[in-house]
This record gives sequence, C-alpha cells and structure tokens, in this order.
Amino acid sequence: MREFYLDPQLGPFKTPFYVYDLNGIRARVELLKSRLPKNAHIHFAMKSNNNRAILQALRELGVGVDLVSSGEMRRAREVGFTPEQMIFSGVGKTRDEISLALEWNIHQLNVESLPELERIAELANGMGKCAHVALRMNPDVDVNTHPYIRTGFRENKFGFDFTEIARAVEILRAHPKALSLQGLTVHIGSQIRDIGAFRDAIRKTLGLWRELKAQGFDLQSFDAGGGLGIDYLSGDLSDDEKSIEAYATMLKNEIAPHVKCLDLEPGRILVARFGALVTEVQYVKRTPYKNFIIVDVGMNALLRPALYEAHHRIVRIDESQSVAKPAPGSSDVFDIVGPICESADVLGAERVMPADIKAGDRLAVLDAGAYGSVMSSQYNLRDTVKEYILGRGKIREHD
Ligand code: LLP
Repeated sequence: MREFYLDPQLGPFKTPFYVYDLNGIRARVELLKSRLPKNAHIHFAMKSNNNRAILQALRELGVGVDLVSSGEMRRAREVGFTPEQMIFSGVGKTRDEISLALEWNIHQLNVESLPELERIAELANGMGKCAHVALRMNPDVDVNTHPYIRTGFRENKFGFDFTEIARAVEILRAHPKALSLQGLTVHIGSQIRDIGAFRDAIRKTLGLWRELKAQGFDLQSFDAGGGLGIDYLSGDLSDDEKSIEAYATMLKNEIAPHVKCLDLEPGRILVARFGALVTEVQYVKRTPYKNFIIVDVGMNALLRPALYEAHHRIVRIDESQSVAKPAPGSSDVFDIVGPICESADVLGAERVMPADIKAGDRLAVLDAGAYGSVMSSQYNLRDTVKEYILGRGKIREHD
C-alpha cells in the first residue's frame, strides 16, 4: 500500500495545481516492461498526459509514443522522440496530419476506415513515400466501462468492420509502392478491468491476421492498443500490479508467440496513479439539504467526474502536506464542488470528509495523472492549471 506522497515543498505553491510523481511513473513503466513478453514495445498514449517532463522521462526509459494529432506529433518531436518511435492513431486524420507523418517517415499509421486508407495512398503516391500502415479492427466486443470510452463495439466510430477487409486488401494491392501493410491493431476502449474482454478482441483479430498472412501479406506487428484500467475506489497499488500481471500473462499466451512484434499503447495504467490535483477550500456551505465544500477548481481542470461520473478519491492534506484520513466520529458528508456555473461541476459527490474542514484547507484529488490536465479548459475564463513535478530533487513548474 502506498499513498500518493505530497511533498512538503508544495506548501507555498498557490492552488490549484497538478503535481506528478515522476519516480512513481518510472517505477510503473519498469514494472510493466518486466512483465511483458520480450517482443513487446510500449508506445505511451500521449493523449492521457502530455506533460513534457513526463514524456521526457518515458523517452529516457525507451518507451515510444502513440499520437492522435499533429500537435501531439510536434510535442513528441520537441521532447526528443524519433519518428521511428511514433505510432499515429485516430479516426479523423487530416491531409496535413497525414502529410506530416509521411514527411517524417513515422513508424506506423493506424488506419481506421476505407476512405482514410485511400487518402493515405493518394498522399503517399503524391509525395513518393511508402506509408507503413496497420488496420485498426473493430472486433465488436462489448466491455464493462463507461459507454463514452468504449470503442470496440460495432456501433462505435472506430476501426474497420471485418466485412470491409476485402476492399481494404484491394486498395493495398492497388498501391504496392505507397502502402505497406505492417499489421493489425485493436483498441476496445479505456478503463477496462476485465482481461477476458481484451482476450476476446485479440482472438478475433488474430483470426484475420492468419487470413492475411495466408494471402501473402508479410505482417510484422500486432498492436494491442491500450485500455487497462485501475480501481479508482482504492489506492492500493498492489491491485494495479495484479492487473498488470494478468494482462501481461494474457498477452504472452495469446499473441506474443504468433507475431514478430507486439505493440502496446497504454496510457492510464502508466500515469493515472501518479498525479494529483491540489485545490484549496474556499467555502464550507451547509444548507438544510446538503453540505458543500466549494473549492477553487472544478470541471475546468478535471472533467472526468462531470463527463463520466468518474470517481476520484479526495483527501484533505494536513500541515505537513501528507495525506490525512479523518478521525473516526469527526466526519461529515459533503459534495465537493468547483466554482464553475454548472451543477455538473462536482469533483466528488457524497464524500465523507473531516467535519472541521474549513476555508483555506487543501484537498488533493487523487489518481488524476491520466486524462486530467490534458482535458482541461479555460471555461469561465479560468486560468490554465499549473503542473509541478516531484522526483528530481527540487519541485519545479513544468508544462
Ligand atoms: N490507444 C488508442 C487508440 C486510444 O484511443 C487510447 C485512449 C489509448 C490507446 C490509451 O488508452 P488507456 O490505456 O489510457 O486506457 N478521457 C477518458 C479516456 C479516453 C481514452 C481515449 N483513448 C477518461 O478520462 O477516462
């Protein structure tokens, strides 16, 4: 059991801010690496956290990146990732984005539809380039996660339906110089804790892999996407370790022996635990119906609770800046809400908090390292929330 550790140096920093534990992230990457089969390559899903210091730490550990926009491509380049370490995913790649990917000769474009494949062929032909592509399959599996972050169901916008592959093969064969099929990819959604769902999707996709090989395609890489979730109700990191273990074992058994290269695109499992949003209590408001703790940040900085009714543990930080649990018998139930003019602006509903909570106290919203800062906005014209890094000696601001 290891709680997120808030450094005493954070005391003087003005709230709200995000703080990341770089050493925690490093240890998590090492753990995942140590469990994965030998032919696996991690490509961090940069959409989950694009903080430069984090990206740099990941790069130093030999991790690549999974990208979804030219903005992400440029940031990855800025922090030193080589095009060879980049996989470009996403359903809506524009001409400019595809051209940039081709100009840089990035490792792989994960293609999501027939018109996208045609567009890539046209652009690659025009530029005299060969695009290394993988086809993203929609395996039509239903998973137990929030519907907004489920992507491998047949009605989702993502990936190819298996019936479209014959046409994809025609396009590939028509453009042998412009398109080189590297492999297949499947990503069924996010915050998934049922390993069986990944297994089903992989098995289905491997069936097609074999068919394509039989048709003469020299497939190299199977990209199993990301999606492994965490238990947001608990801070017990040994649960994460067990999930990683089970996930890695499944990959070892199901795919690794059948493919040359196994690519992965994890986001949340690498960073979620190692970020917190620190906020200050502005008012404690008690009404005949509800108690509220009103803090200085809300859905503008952390959208997950408002958008997915996601749960994040919230704790008061005591004077030594460590996480304090309320003493038994001295707690009360509160909705912890932000300042935004929307009733959805709730960071935590019905939370047991110390009854003596007061204006000026600091709270930490935990497990906010993934899909936190990256999804923030300036709604209500609020300032962008700063980000600080722990783990390299002195605390410093780093975007
Ligand atoms: N690969 C692809 C193609 C993806 O679309 C995603 C996430 C990942 C990898 C990484 O998935 P992860 O390992 O982080 O689950 N905003 C939502 C999550 C959206 C996920 C989008 N795609 C949330 O806050 O829960």
